[in-house]
Amino acid sequence: MKIEIPREVDRFGAIRFYGLQKVFELDSGIREDSSADQIATVKQIPYEDYYEIQKEMAIVVPIRNERLRLVEGVLCGIPHKCLIIIVSNSPRGPIDRFKMEEEALNNFCTFVNKKAIIAHQKDPHLARAFEKTQYASILNKNGEIRDGKAEGMIIGTILAWLAEKKYIGFVDADNYFPGAVEEYVREYAAGFFMSSSRYAMVRIAWQSKPKIIEKKLFFRKWGRTTENTNRLLNKFLSHYYGFESELIKTGNAGEHAMTMDLARCLDYSSGYSVEPYHIINLVEKFGGIHESPLPEVMKEGIEVYQIESRNPHLHEAGDREHIEEMSYVAMQAMYHSTVCPEKLKKEIFKDMVKQKYLSREDKPPQPNHFPALYSIDTKTFFEEIKTAPYAKTIKEGGL
Ligand code: GDD
Ligand code: MG
Repeated sequence: MKIEIPREVDRFGAIRFYGLQKVFELDSGIREDSSADQIATVKQIPYEDYYEIQKEMAIVVPIRNERLRLVEGVLCGIPHKCLIIIVSNSPRGPIDRFKMEEEALNNFCTFVNKKAIIAHQKDPHLARAFEKTQYASILNKNGEIRDGKAEGMIIGTILAWLAEKKYIGFVDADNYFPGAVEEYVREYAAGFFMSSSRYAMVRIAWQSKPKIIEKKLFFRKWGRTTENTNRLLNKFLSHYYGFESELIKTGNAGEHAMTMDLARCLDYSSGYSVEPYHIINLVEKFGGIHESPLPEVMKEGIEVYQIESRNPHLHEAGDREHIEEMSYVAMQAMYHSTVCPEKLKKEIFKDMVKQKYLSREDKPPQPNHFPALYSIDTKTFFEEIKTAPYAKTIKEGGL
């Protein structure tokens, strides 16, 4: 892959947010093709290097009730060396959708000769493991793991950690283009290749999202939710910088990856608020506004890469209500943050009222908050899940 080096960087405490990077060539060959005449503004990531990174990477696919055809396409786009972890919250009745997903995954694994993990979000082993490790905030009043994409991501993260993976990436299960999935994973590896910190995050911005408008295919760049969330995050960062910045382009990036070292250090926020919240939480923990709970991470520094993918992004279209909800929860996550400036809080509230999300008398709801995973005792966690079918694929070594 050939990728432009970041042209801009915004420093916030110990965090370096890099500007959007363009991909010039998806496959730029092996190491010996990286000729001496490389230009300083473009970085080559030789095939061998991203292959090595992918060997240590888990790709988590959160699923709730997606069409199997789409899921199969996504699986086919995930590079062979990555460990696939499906976390499903699909219904178990009247039709057992999870069983169908399990069968599809097993079938895929037989053909491509690899092992993968599939777990259900409501699996009682997992619920017990979280309870035993003092992480009960993820459970609902019935003692089950709560619904939500972020809740599924937390499960995926801990399973990848138990499987001793160094990197973790997320891809949605409803992507129509397997080639796009493959590209995202390559870009995750490219980000980690460029990073010199153990604490790195890579977020994907799609170059286009095709839509049919007036019977013609139109390649739209930014959706409304993405625009709103990016504007909100940029306003927040600009407040502290004291100069206006538009650097954040990936506020809603469902497709993103982290080093496991960083994934363990970040708090999570429920459902679809998790992507903007990860940026907010970086600032809460490492922005230098509050004393950091993890001074050793502060010392090393955190790098956030934003890479613009080349494939168009086409997924199952959500209805208007779903899209509005995504915008609203991003606002809630920002509003309730301990680092949200008062002025911005007022603006967000005004906007919520204007958009008719709530009335002037209401208080904005707060998304559920889940603490960072680093304090979880992995031995105890594994002890609780060791009889679950997916535990066989998780290596016990090192625990
Ligand atoms: N395990 C699990 N549990 N998975 C879930 C759940 C859940 O409760 N809810 C949804 N998912 C899965 C979906 O099946 C899909 O694979 C993925 O999470 C994203 O959910 P979608 O419902 O398809 O979200 P979206 O397409 O509207 O939004 C996506 O893109 C946004 C950026 O435009 C998501 O990735 C958002 O998080 C992202 O901000
Ligand atoms: Mg989707």
